[in-house]
Amino acid sequence: MIELEGVHVRHRARSGGLFHRDSVHALTDATLRVGQGEIVGLVGESGCGKSTLARVLTGLQKPTEGRMLFRGEDLWEMPAARRRQEFGSSVGVVFQDPATALNPRMPVGRILRDPLDVHRRGTVREREERVEELLDLVGLPGHTVRSLPGRLSGGQRQRVAIARALALEPELIVADEPTSALDVSVRAQVLNLLMDLRARLGLGMVFISHDIQTVRYLSDRLAVLYLGRIVEQGAASTVASAPAHPYTEALLSATPSLLTDTERIVLTGPVPSATNPPTGCPFRTRCWKAEDDCATAFPAATEGGGGGHQWHCVHPQPAAALSATHTRSTS
Ligand SMILES: Nc1ncnc2c1ncn2[C@@H]1O[C@H](COP(=O)(O)OP(=O)(O)OP(=O)(O)O)[C@@H](O)[C@H]1O
Ligand SMILES: [Mg+2]
Repeated sequence: MIELEGVHVRHRARSGGLFHRDSVHALTDATLRVGQGEIVGLVGESGCGKSTLARVLTGLQKPTEGRMLFRGEDLWEMPAARRRQEFGSSVGVVFQDPATALNPRMPVGRILRDPLDVHRRGTVREREERVEELLDLVGLPGHTVRSLPGRLSGGQRQRVAIARALALEPELIVADEPTSALDVSVRAQVLNLLMDLRARLGLGMVFISHDIQTVRYLSDRLAVLYLGRIVEQGAASTVASAPAHPYTEALLSATPSLLTDTERIVLTGPVPSATNPPTGCPFRTRCWKAEDDCATAFPAATEGGGGGHQWHCVHPQPAAALSATHTRSTS
């Protein structure tokens, strides 16, 4: 449904002198596919470019370079009206913090009706029915329709945000850390709701989190981001059980799993800056396996093990190294 081909996003740095303005490499050469009805988990630590990638996937951010294809067509070469109508109604987005994502002065009913009004869906009566249906779908009582977001709990607000994302019956929901601003006690409820909706509506989903343990069981495929680069991707079960990239290994070991007894890998060394990323592999400054060859060029994609598993590392974990079938050269 969506394909990113060599997508870069560079921002002007907020700091920097008058004559010299650095650029922030928020996303570098990202290639990713999201199939119909598929759940793609996107993981990486703070500042690695997850939200930037979410903004690209939802059409809020135009790539500085590279292409974003929607059903095989370049989104940014479509006439603006078609982009808004066709793409805008096919992809819904749920942001991290429901407190800022919802207009505090609008009652829930209007928040949910807004996309229906903008896209002129059905009659006024039908729109009202759809609002009731949406509340029901996310498990909120009918009287919520008159509430202001400020009167709701965090979990209820996130349900409203999810209902709004579903208003136009999208095929894909991009959820950018949808539970990280919520109390631990309601996180599981919101996750369960998303998975239940996915099963009932056959939605595709891009699920973003800094916690690989949360995402691995929900996703069909996983992509791991480090400093603006997708360093590994593949079937979730493969990436999580036989990671190739040392960074993925470190992420997996950071949160203890109940099932496996892994030794915790503590990363040392400075977190490099996205304004001035290191040459070669961006992870080499913190990687315990790094050698001189890691500094020369960003490693080409190596594929192995099937299921589209690929990684960018010249010293991968041994199991993956054995399964490697071929290395594609990249620019
Ligand atoms: N509009 C902008 N102008 C300048 N720099 C930006 C802008 N937006 C993002 N960045 C920078 O781009 C990089 C990636 O940011 P992004 O928000 O995508 O990361 P993230 O993975 O979502 O982080 P978090 O987990 O904290 O939400 C960061 O270094 C960030 O400071
Ligand atoms: Mg973010």
